[in-house]
Amino acid sequence: MEISTSILGVKEENCMQVFYNLETAGTDYFHIDVMDGKFVKNNTVNLMTKYSEYLNNITNIPLDVHLMVNDVMSFIKSFMAFNPRNITIHYESAKNKEELMNWIKYIKENNSKVGISIKPKTNIEEIYDILQYIHTVLIMTVEPGKGGQKLISETIQKIKDLKQYIVKNNLEVDIEADGGINLENVSLLKEAGCDIVVAGTCIIQSDNFKETIKKLKL
Ligand code: DX5
Ligand code: ZN
Repeated sequence: MEISTSILGVKEENCMQVFYNLETAGTDYFHIDVMDGKFVKNNTVNLMTKYSEYLNNITNIPLDVHLMVNDVMSFIKSFMAFNPRNITIHYESAKNKEELMNWIKYIKENNSKVGISIKPKTNIEEIYDILQYIHTVLIMTVEPGKGGQKLISETIQKIKDLKQYIVKNNLEVDIEADGGINLENVSLLKEAGCDIVVAGTCIIQSDNFKETIKKLKL
């Protein structure tokens, strides 16, 4: 399983050292949580833009951008500038399927992988018809909007259902889970079928990034 470290909780004063330590500790991705203060209450746009700028210049570790915004297309365009490996947009931010498909098309035409994220209350069946067009489904295991929350255990069944649907229909889609993931619950996510997990607090607040990432990967 791959690890995408959320840098939402990284303090600006020592961010370069933390990014370097995360890279040497073996994180597979840097997870960039972009919040506009409208789709979710917090606003992290300036900080995540600054961090993406740094990371794009100092490391080859891929950026896994998670857009929790209302004005999706303008944020896709501004974060495309940092050559992200992946841009994930929220199913709930689209007015209709057509708008969602336009965003998916635009992201792929600009050489980034595309992910669709669903909130805990959104049914997994809602996105079955677009799985064939995307690379990753980001299952929110907390309400989007901040780090350090507790994993909502009901969301694990969604991962199992999604995995079953992907296997049954022979689809090539990765499953990524995001929110409240730690050493105690990561095995549940792995068993449920996750290919990637996002972890913020569990890694950033640990005293040994390498050890923590190694244990999360098991
Ligand atoms: C929440 C973000 C998550 C969060 C993960 O809206 O999308 O990526 O920062 O952080 P932890 O692992 O602390 O829940
Ligand atoms: Zn996230």
